[in-house]
This record gives sequence, C-alpha cells and structure tokens, in this order.
Amino acid sequence: MKRTLLGFAIGFAFTLMLGWIAFPRALYTHKQQPFTFLHKAHAEKSGISDCGECHAFKDDGEFAGIPATEKCASCHSEQLGDTKAEAILVSNYVKPGHETHWLVYAQQPANVWFSHAIHLKRAGLSCQQCHGSYGETDQVKVYQLNRISGYSRDIWGHSMSRFRRAPGDGMKMSDCETCHSRRHVEVGCLGCHK
Ligand code: HEC
Ligand code: HEC
Ligand code: HEC
Ligand code: HEC
Ligand code: HEC
Repeated sequence: MKRTLLGFAIGFAFTLMLGWIAFPRALYTHKQQPFTFLHKAHAEKSGISDCGECHAFKDDGEFAGIPATEKCASCHSEQLGDTKAEAILVSNYVKPGHETHWLVYAQQPANVWFSHAIHLKRAGLSCQQCHGSYGETDQVKVYQLNRISGYSRDIWGHSMSRFRRAPGDGMKMSDCETCHSRRHVEVGCLGCHK
C-alpha cells in the first residue's frame, strides 16, 4: 500500500513537472521579426540618446509607436556598415519606400483602449515601468504567439504562474489594475474597453 502511494506520488510529481516544462513550449509558437534592430547599438553609434526621437508623439498628441521607415532613411539611405540586417533594411524597405511590419510585443486585444499620452505626459511614468529594459538591450526579443488566445506572450508574461514578475513582464487586465489601485486611479470598464 505504502509503495503504491509512493509510486503514485513520484509519478504525479513527474507528470506535473513535465507539464510545467512542456506546456509553455506547446502553447507558444515563435515568429520572426523582419530583421534585427538593436537598441543599444543605436544608442552608442547613431548619436540618438532620446527614445522620443524614434518613439515620438504626433502633432495631434497621439503616440506614433514604432517609427516609420522614413525615420530610418535619414541615416540609412545607403548602407553605413556591413551587417546583413542593415542590408535588408536598405534594399527591401528604404530604397523601395516600404513600411516595416514589426510584430508588436505589447499589442493588446482589439477591444482594449490604451493611451501613451495619458501615461507619459499626465502620469509621468517611464517606459521601463511597463516595457522593462527592452529599449536598452542589444538583442531582438523572440516574438512568442499564444496559439490559443492569438496574443503575444508579453500580455500573460514570461512566468506561467505569474509569480516573481519583473516590471514589463506581463500586461494583463490585472496588471493595469494593480498599478491603478496602487496610485488610486479609478477607471471604469469603458475607460479601458471599446
Ligand atoms: C541618426 C542616424 C540613424 C538613424 C535615424 C537610424 N540608424 Fe540604424 N544605424 C545607425 C548607425 C550609425 C549604425 C551602425 C552602422 C554600423 O557600423 O554597422 C546603424 C545600424 C543599424 C543596423 C545594423 C545593426 C545591427 O548590427 O543589426 C540596423 C538593422 C539599423 N541600423 C536599423 C535602423 C532602423 C530600422 C532605423 C529606423 C527605425 C534606424 N536604423 C535609424 C544610425 C542610424
Ligand atoms: C533609432 C530609433 C529608435 C530609438 C532611438 C529607440 N527605439 Fe525603440 N524601437 C525602434 C524600432 C525600429 C522598434 C521595432 C523593432 C523592435 O521591436 O525591436 C522598436 C521597438 C521598441 C519597443 C517594443 C514595442 C513592442 O511592444 O513591440 C520598445 C518597448 C521600445 N522600442 C522602447 C524604446 C525605449 C525605452 C527607447 C529609449 C531608451 C527606445 N525604444 C529607443 C526604434 C527605436
Ligand atoms: C503604462 C504602461 C506603458 C508605458 C509607461 C509605456 N508603454 Fe508603450 N505600450 C504599452 C501598452 C499597453 C502597449 C500596447 C498598446 C496597444 O496595443 O494599443 C504599448 C505599445 C508600445 C509600442 C508599440 C506601439 C505600436 O503598436 O506601434 C511601442 C513602440 C512602445 N509602447 C514604446 C514605449 C516607449 C518608448 C515608452 C516610453 C517613452 C512607453 N512605450 C511607455 C504600455 C506602456
Ligand atoms: C485598467 C484597464 C481595464 C479596466 C478598468 C477593465 N479592463 Fe478588462 N481588460 C483590460 C485589458 C488590458 C485586457 C486584455 C488583457 C487580458 O486579457 O487580461 C482586458 C480583458 C478583458 C476581457 C477579456 C479577457 C480575455 O482574456 O480576453 C474581459 C471579458 C474584460 N476585460 C472585461 C472587463 C470588465 C467587465 C470590466 C469592468 C468591470 C473591465 N474589463 C475593466 C483592461 C481593463
Ligand atoms: C505603472 C502604472 C500603470 C500601469 C501599468 C497602467 N496604468 Fe493606466 N494609469 C496610470 C496612472 C498613474 C493614471 C492616471 C493618469 C493621470 O490622470 O494623471 C492612469 C490612467 C489611465 C486611464 C485614464 C483614466 C482617465 O483619467 O481618463 C486609462 C484609460 C488607463 N490608465 C488605462 C490603462 C490600461 C488599459 C493599462 C494596461 C494595459 C494601464 N492603464 C496600465 C498608471 C498605470
């Protein structure tokens, strides 16, 4: 009897662990960005130190998000270095005048309304508080698509349990609300949903 119980316990723990490791792998599929863009390399080599140079607000006050190819063309009309990524940028996007369709890690479902202007200009938050350190890194994050929800993994966050999360690791409804309640911001359902 004791041995059966022990056997069951070991088997149960093993299956649980296997699921814990295998489930995220099965749940997420990887997608490639059009080419490699390195934030840190730009901070060091291009002379642009301000995020707002590329991630600007438009004249009407709306956040422009990821910069258009036009912004890159001011420096990359011809190739500056000898990297493959830059060659793709110049020949496939800058010269023919095509936009780059970047996959947006933070992309919320279509029924969510989010304003950078409110959070940056009015609340004075930093990019890092929601996006972590991505804007200072020298790597391109792997875009992980949740096969069930169809959303980026950055919405749920990296940890399956949602424990021990760093800032920027996850932006579910409860993450928006945790910060709001800490700062005594009251937003109704229709403040965030459209
Ligand atoms: C102010 C000038 C400037 C602007 C604007 C600029 N870059 Fe660059 N970029 C550089 C410099 C300088 C390098 C380094 C070239 C080298 O030595 O390889 C570089 C390198 C690169 C590389 C190769 C780096 C690598 O190792 O992968 C890519 C790709 C790139 N830029 C993409 C872009 C994109 C996309 C934009 C627009 C969103 C952009 N750049 C805007 C100056 C600029
Ligand atoms: C030279 C232009 C340039 C500068 C300067 C720049 N970025 Fe970016 N940023 C980009 C481009 C191009 C992308 C799209 C490619 C990617 O996701 O890596 C991007 C993507 C991002 C993303 C990913 C958004 C998402 O969810 O997909 C974040 C976050 C970000 N930048 C933050 C920053 C921060 C913070 C700074 C300043 C410390 C900064 N960026 C400076 C060009 C720039
Ligand atoms: C309060 C949290 C918060 C802060 C602060 C914040 N962001 Fe975001 N960011 C988001 C969310 C949420 C999205 C997804 C928005 C959506 O899907 O409509 C996003 C999307 C983006 C995107 C992709 C937009 C696109 O679709 O092209 C970029 C680029 C970006 N943020 C850069 C920045 C930069 C740079 C800063 C600092 C200047 C910043 N963010 C500050 C939460 C934030
Ligand atoms: C502070 C902003 C905010 C408020 C307030 C808010 N939501 Fe959300 N809600 C979100 C975001 C962001 C998502 C998408 C991310 C996610 O699934 O958690 C979402 C997702 C949802 C979803 C879909 C769940 C899913 O996984 O697709 C439902 C349903 C929902 N909200 C209902 C509500 C209702 C009802 C209220 C009012 C009681 C409300 N929300 C208030 C931000 C908010
Ligand atoms: C790190 C903290 C933080 C996070 C995370 C955050 N917010 Fe906010 N949000 C604020 C603060 C602070 C304000 C109040 C801005 C003000 O009026 O000064 C605010 C205000 C708002 C408002 C405007 C309320 C009004 O006055 O009209 C909306 C809508 C909103 N947030 C949506 C969201 C959504 C959706 C998310 C998640 C995707 C989110 N916020 C995540 C801090 C945050």
